[in-house]
Amino acid sequence: MKGLPSECAVYAVFGNPVKHSLSPLMHQAALDRMGLKAVYVPFCVTDLKEAVLGIRGLGIRGVSVTLPFKTAVMNYLDEIDEGARRIGAVNTIWNDQGRLKGTNTDWLGFVLSLQAHTEIRGRRFLVIGAGGAARGIVYGLIREGGHPVIINRTAAKAEALAREFGCSFLSGAEIHQAGADGLINTTPVGMAPHGEDSPWPGDRLHHFPVVMDIIYNPLQTRLLKEARTAGCLTISGLEMFIRQGAEQFKIWTGLEAPLSRMREVVLAQLTKDANR
Ligand code: ATR
Repeated sequence: MKGLPSECAVYAVFGNPVKHSLSPLMHQAALDRMGLKAVYVPFCVTDLKEAVLGIRGLGIRGVSVTLPFKTAVMNYLDEIDEGARRIGAVNTIWNDQGRLKGTNTDWLGFVLSLQAHTEIRGRRFLVIGAGGAARGIVYGLIREGGHPVIINRTAAKAEALAREFGCSFLSGAEIHQAGADGLINTTPVGMAPHGEDSPWPGDRLHHFPVVMDIIYNPLQTRLLKEARTAGCLTISGLEMFIRQGAEQFKIWTGLEAPLSRMREVVLAQLTKDANR
């Protein structure tokens, strides 16, 4: 077998399971497009501590961290930036000459996707869900001067998250009062194979100029389809996924990421899977 050239850089994703991750496809396409001698490898991790030690031992330059390790990985890094600390999750490790630095690009991927379509500063956004994904989104909205309002199936969790971040929340019973400059779904409701579900009543979507879903499989969730019918501007979770990856690419390589190439390959794969 032909070996890798000695100067070949190695990047990776750590997850379990990791088989369905689109990060290897997206990042390899980006590395190739930029003409970099590099490979991006998926690792199904069974021992996280040992895996992180391996980053240094093997000289892996950068790692994407996915479920279920985004919080646990924080125990094994040399540095964690403020955003990742506030959110309580690291999705990116950069091996900076042996120092393992943890950051979170999910919130920034979200912010950039939303800002490509609308202003955040001074505006009110209704955030559905109060789990790990919601934390990054609430953090990003506040950082950019927006006003999140959290609503969640378990009201106590919405309240706890709102208190932690100093923003407001609504109970489920107040849903009829809900109107805002945008609606953002951070729950898994509507994700394949449950594409028939939606986290929000279709007849209450016209109150929102912009509706965003963080789900990217299916590409057009029921929420987004109904929002489009209701005349809202819609943003798919694909944008957030691509942009969080582009920010990782920038951190690791110091280069601007080839965003459209990354979008192209991920879109092609998702379309292929949908037609299967
Ligand atoms: P993640 O870390 O990916 O955000 P999570 O921490 O499990 O995942 O959070 C999922 C969020 O989606 C939670 O806010 C959850 O609501 P609860 O706090 O009530 O559990 C919400 N969620 C998950 N399934 C849901 C469903 N079927 N209907 C409504 N909300 C749901």
